[in-house]
Parts: sequence; C-alpha cells; structure tokens
Amino acid sequence: MIHIGNNFDISESYIKILGIKIYYKFFKSKEEKAVLMTMHGGPGMSHDYMLPVSDLASNQISVLFYDQFGCGRSEEPQDLSKFSIDYGVDEAEEVRRTLFSDRKVFLLGSSYGGALALAYSLKHQDKLHGLILSGALSSVPFTVMEMHRLVNELPDWAKNAINSSQAGDNTSPEYQKAIDLFYHRHFLRLENYPEPVLQSLKYAEERNVYRIMNGPNEFTITGTISGWDITEKISSIKIPTLITTGEYDEVTPKIAEILNNKINGSKLIVFKGCSHLTMWEKRSEYNSTLAEFILSTKK
Ligand code: ALA
Repeated sequence: MIHIGNNFDISESYIKILGIKIYYKFFKSKEEKAVLMTMHGGPGMSHDYMLPVSDLASNQISVLFYDQFGCGRSEEPQDLSKFSIDYGVDEAEEVRRTLFSDRKVFLLGSSYGGALALAYSLKHQDKLHGLILSGALSSVPFTVMEMHRLVNELPDWAKNAINSSQAGDNTSPEYQKAIDLFYHRHFLRLENYPEPVLQSLKYAEERNVYRIMNGPNEFTITGTISGWDITEKISSIKIPTLITTGEYDEVTPKIAEILNNKINGSKLIVFKGCSHLTMWEKRSEYNSTLAEFILSTKK
C-alpha cells in the first residue's frame, strides 16, 4: 500500500526474512539524502511507539520501521530458541540487505532496540554511516540495578506494593498503581499515552516475546536477556555515534554515560525533563537533534 505525502511517500508491506513474515513501514523522502533504519524496544513491543521519528522524512531523511520477529504485525518463529539477540542481529541485516542491497544506512535503536543496534554494529558496522542510541543499554544486569534504584525512590506505598508482588501478589490495585507511577515517571511523562504507544504496550502484553525475553514489566527483567552484557566489547565500534537519554529515563543517564565513555568520539545528549520516550516528550527537539547528526555526518 502506498500513501503519497507532500515530500515523502509511505509504503507498508511484509517481507520474508529468514523464513518469517516481517512487517515494515517505509517513509521515503522525495529529496532523500540518507536512510535511517530503526529498531524498536521491548523486547517485544512494536515499531508504533517510534512513529514520531517519521517526521524526519520531511527533512530529507527516509525512515524505515519494522516489527521484529514475533512482535507487532510480524510472524513468530516456532522454534523458541530463535528468541535471541543474535537472531535479531541476523534478521536486521537481512531486512537491510533485502530493502537496500549494498547501500549503507544510519541505524537508530531505542531502548532494547539500542542493545540490538549495538550488537548489530559489532558485527556489521561496515554497513552503517552512523549509529543513534536512544535510551539504550549494553548491560541488562546493570540496567536492572539502575531500575531498582529508581523503584527505591518511589513513595513507600508503591515500593511496598512492588515488593509484595515479588512475593507473588501482582494482581492488587496498589501494584497496578505503583507500576503506573513508575511508567509516568520513567517511561513516558505524559498524562495520557498516545495511541501508538498504547498499541506497542498492548502488543507486548498480548504476544510472547516480551514475556519470554524481557519479563512481566519494565523494571522486572527476568527473561532470557537477563544476563546479557556486551559492555567490554563496544569500544570496537568506530562509526559516528549519537547517544540520547532523558533526565528521568528508566534506562538511566548513568547507563548512557557508560556507552559514551566506551565508544570513541561519541556524543551524548541528555534531554532535560524527559524520560524514556523523549521522541514523544520533546518531539521536535529530539528529531532536530537526530536530523542534525545525520545530515552533518553524511555531507
Ligand atoms: N524494556 C525497555 C525497552 O526495551 C528497556 O523498551
């Protein structure tokens, strides 16, 4: 299906990647200077919550979104052993190769998508002009420690509700309220969540990947990625890298600083007053920051 905009076209379709039907949506600039491929987080959400980034298509940057295996509108592999970051890297490279052949792209990874983008870069940085990491992480154990620090800063009633949920009671209204409080402080600081964000959260809840790879919620990462850590490897990334985070991000500024210290020549921007989904909280400032990085890197 193709929609025609003023200075960009939108197409959406499915492609077979490693035998699995993968959904993508492409905002193609009519004055394209660069292509940005995006990786959503979760693991197990969908591209929907990242849609504000499509604004870049009005600024000479084509933007590709896709739903990773088992996420959003994409098919789920039958073999559960395929639920891994290594598989996600191979899938991403197949998506890039199928749609753009030998062309280099910019890569944006949000949250877990940032972890995936780091893993992708370790293997395929020769396919990239540059890397953008937003609310990204190189170590799940350290991220969990940081998230628990944030949980401990919640008011007593919320901390107690969360602690008793660890003992098995996660149906109480207090527990739901505590999660809601955490999300409104550290995931997205908007009172009403926009429809695409709700859609991504709904997919995460309804499908299997989030539960299997991540865990029951944002700050309880007990799934298959729980021990994942590539911090000591990422200094081998040599491409231009922009790192963004929010002041109150659940994937905290401390985590972003580690990435910034390890990747030579990278640039870190902390958005004041923002949390994890800066792309909604400061949409135009966030997109301008990305556009400036991309267009100045690819002169
Ligand atoms: N669960 C978070 C995400 O990947 C960290 O979006």
